[in-house]
Amino acid sequence: MINVGIVGLGFMGMIHYLTYRKLPGVRVAAICEVNEKRLTGDWTDIKGNFGPAGEQMDLSGVATFTSIDQMLASTELDLVDVTLPPALHAEATITAFAAGRHVFCEKPMSLRLEECERMSAAARKADRRLYVGHVLPFFPEYAWAYDAIQSGRYGAVLGGAFRRVIADPAWLRNYWAADQVGGPLFDLHVHDAHFIRLAFGMPTEVASRGRMRHGLPEFWHSHFTFGDAGYLVEATSGVVNQQGRAFNHGFEIHFERATMLFEFAVIGGEGAYLCPPTVLLESGGVERPTLSGGDPMNAFEAELREVTDAVRNNRESAILGGPLAQDAVKLCEMQARSMAGSRPAGARG
Ligand SMILES: NC(=O)c1ccc[n+]([C@@H]2O[C@H](COP(=O)([O-])OP(=O)(O)OC[C@H]3O[C@@H](n4cnc5c(N)ncnc54)[C@H](O)[C@@H]3O)[C@@H](O)[C@H]2O)c1
Repeated sequence: MINVGIVGLGFMGMIHYLTYRKLPGVRVAAICEVNEKRLTGDWTDIKGNFGPAGEQMDLSGVATFTSIDQMLASTELDLVDVTLPPALHAEATITAFAAGRHVFCEKPMSLRLEECERMSAAARKADRRLYVGHVLPFFPEYAWAYDAIQSGRYGAVLGGAFRRVIADPAWLRNYWAADQVGGPLFDLHVHDAHFIRLAFGMPTEVASRGRMRHGLPEFWHSHFTFGDAGYLVEATSGVVNQQGRAFNHGFEIHFERATMLFEFAVIGGEGAYLCPPTVLLESGGVERPTLSGGDPMNAFEAELREVTDAVRNNRESAILGGPLAQDAVKLCEMQARSMAGSRPAGARG
């Protein structure tokens, strides 16, 4: 049995809790949360942008704490799941490693590369594993694209364009605080930064231009280049001033012998494909595969299966490992630097 302790029972903590309950051989043994109402099982005020609404939960059998130190001192845990706001990821992760636990930390790994490096060093020192919650590769469209890139079935990948744009998330606290959530660069685009890093390797240079709000990138375009690998990748991301389209993501990926397309949006409260997953073949053929698992909860289930399987088998995760997540934060910092200086930013500083 893998015993999990969740730290931070907000929207993501609830999604993880509900998901662990579906996994055989996994048990949420403890929850740590400063909001004591949540520790009584009253989750009715938890709100997010997908998944079930918060309910009154029966937490009998789950030990509850308001301090991570107390939780670590009094519970036998295999895995600490950090679903705190980003500014608190590093400290909680390092504390859990010092207590000899493996850690699954939500994205972004941290808001600063230097803190990511401290987290990775703490994992090495404790000889424990760090997994970071980059769930995007478990969404069916991105899993489909990653598989095509890995398998080479359309020839070598040449590059691509990635898009992730939302309405102003007025319901998220501290969204525009650089030292709390970090705005859409660290909260939203970090998903694509991670996917680009996973699929193409680490870019050598990024050039970004953006519109700013409260000193943070609000909406921007970035071009990633990869030295001798020669890929050309671009990303568009950020917040635009409307509330009719809550969410929009998609990609166009170029291969030697095909192009893959997909775009999804939530418009007027309804989620729909603007372009269903499509392959344009060099022969002129057009394929529209049916992908399974459209509910975001399925992606979280696949992600937590990977984490708990990795813990069970004492292995790293090729997708959820710390080094890739750390590079995703580095790519966000490079884009911020490029936008601030209006010039390309190199990976070497
Ligand atoms: N993978 C995804 O698609 C996705 C989606 C949403 C959020 N997230 C990530 O999940 C993380 C949490 O986001 P959220 O939306 O759940 O935030 P949230 O504000 O809903 O939840 C955070 C919880 O942590 C609690 N908390 C704060 N300080 C604490 C402390 N010192 N000890 C214990 N509890 C404490 C808060 O009371 C709150 O309940 C963020 O890193 C966010 O980026 C990921």
